[in-house]
Amino acid sequence: MNFKLTQEPIDIVEAELEIILVVDKDFEHRFIKDREILDRVGFRAEQDEVRLLAESNRVYVGIDAIGSVTTRTAVASVIRALRATKYKSLKIASYMNHPKCTSVIRAMVEGFILGSYSFERYKSKKSKLNIKEIIISLEDYRDFDLSLEACSPVVERAKILAKATNFTRDIVNTTPDDCYPKVLADIAKRLAKKNGLECKILKTKDIKKEKMNALLAVSRASRHKPRVIHLAHKPKNPIAVVSLIGKGLTYDSGGLSLKPSDFMVTMKLDKSGASAVVGIMKSVSEMNLPIEVHGFIGAVENMIGGDAYKPDDVLVAKNGKSIEVRNTDAEGRLVLADILCYAQQEVKADYIFDLATLTGASVVGVGHYTSAIMGESSRVKDMVLKGAKVAGEFVTKLDFNRYLKKSLKSEVADICNISNSRYGGAITAGLFLEEFIDEENRDRWVHIDIAGPAFIEHIWGENPHGASGVGVRTISRVLEALVRAKKQ
Ligand code: BES
Ligand code: ZN
Ligand code: ZN
Repeated sequence: MNFKLTQEPIDIVEAELEIILVVDKDFEHRFIKDREILDRVGFRAEQDEVRLLAESNRVYVGIDAIGSVTTRTAVASVIRALRATKYKSLKIASYMNHPKCTSVIRAMVEGFILGSYSFERYKSKKSKLNIKEIIISLEDYRDFDLSLEACSPVVERAKILAKATNFTRDIVNTTPDDCYPKVLADIAKRLAKKNGLECKILKTKDIKKEKMNALLAVSRASRHKPRVIHLAHKPKNPIAVVSLIGKGLTYDSGGLSLKPSDFMVTMKLDKSGASAVVGIMKSVSEMNLPIEVHGFIGAVENMIGGDAYKPDDVLVAKNGKSIEVRNTDAEGRLVLADILCYAQQEVKADYIFDLATLTGASVVGVGHYTSAIMGESSRVKDMVLKGAKVAGEFVTKLDFNRYLKKSLKSEVADICNISNSRYGGAITAGLFLEEFIDEENRDRWVHIDIAGPAFIEHIWGENPHGASGVGVRTISRVLEALVRAKKQ
């Protein structure tokens, strides 16, 4: 899909189909040339409602107000509706409401690319998207035009982030038998080679040497051996150092505390944190951000078998803390415990973000569309909230408290891997992770539980059925904001 910016007025731009965003529910705006037909076919211009009028070569889409979130989902809905058609080229006006505000154009390009995603690897008949060219006219119906110079880099960034998101979606959607720890490591290696990243892969022997015994215990019953992946983007004179940690359970059966069948389906999603980290490494390297970014991934499969780790086991994590296992399905925090320790040992970072599909409790608490963030620093949490807002992703804060912390107490070890209470499970999981963050890093760390939005079995907004690639755009935007703040 090719994007072309032009300063030609939209009416003289040549394309097979024109997209018109309809804010005005009475169809009175002069952009709306098919007023009567739209009324006759019952078009109500609700947000994301699409109507293709083939005779006039126009496709209309409803939008509540022009803004980046609404534009992103509206154009994603259009491109989805055009999937089976033969149209090759589209044109659209820029719908800018301020000469310096390029956020709508960025959201528009993202919406086109994100909405065009479809995971078809396992289909024998693939559907085809024929659209090759999208022309955006910068000449606006208001009194100003946008400059090509201002908009071109914005379009480039949108392309990078949206493609990185689709790349992440592909990894998550791939089945556990096609994407196991070694495959995840191979994907990281290939990306590193292509994008000039450093890449280090730790195999079982190296992982043992690093004393990551909690991670090793989780992986033991699987025929797929674990991998620890470390990717690094190292520009000259970086303005900051950031570590990203991803939960990479290529499958979570629950282990001996086996998941009920209905809960096991979709558990290929449990590598979404790791896949997001790979996607973010792709985007930061392509944007060539002047930030040193490290991606750490614990790639493991949680299975059952004679060699499986068990409830009642006591594991000693990399930092020497002993963990009583009372539920083998709370495995993500065990893997992350070791990876968080490893990441802090390897890199002295200014910011540490972990992304994990950590708890069902987070989905119960904040719903399917929202990620939950936790940590001690309001400043760093606010950075994530802001990043999410511009990225069009939903994030909310969950606060720690000392009473919930007590629920992780163990009678036989330093800490228990589950809480003794049925309630507050997303927070107690976050509190568990905090035990593996060194004191001096506690104000630099934010935990992001993406269990809700990582994988949903229906289309929503700019997201397809299945993996959403959540986290890629939010964290990329956080990193971009760091660069902007430094420049000011
Ligand atoms: N991977 C799951 C969490 C999850 C659940 C992600 C639903 C996405 C959708 C995690 O490993 C898990 O099983 N957590 C348990 C923890 C419990 C045993 C304390 C859970 O949430 O039930
Ligand atoms: Zn689990
Ligand atoms: Zn899990």
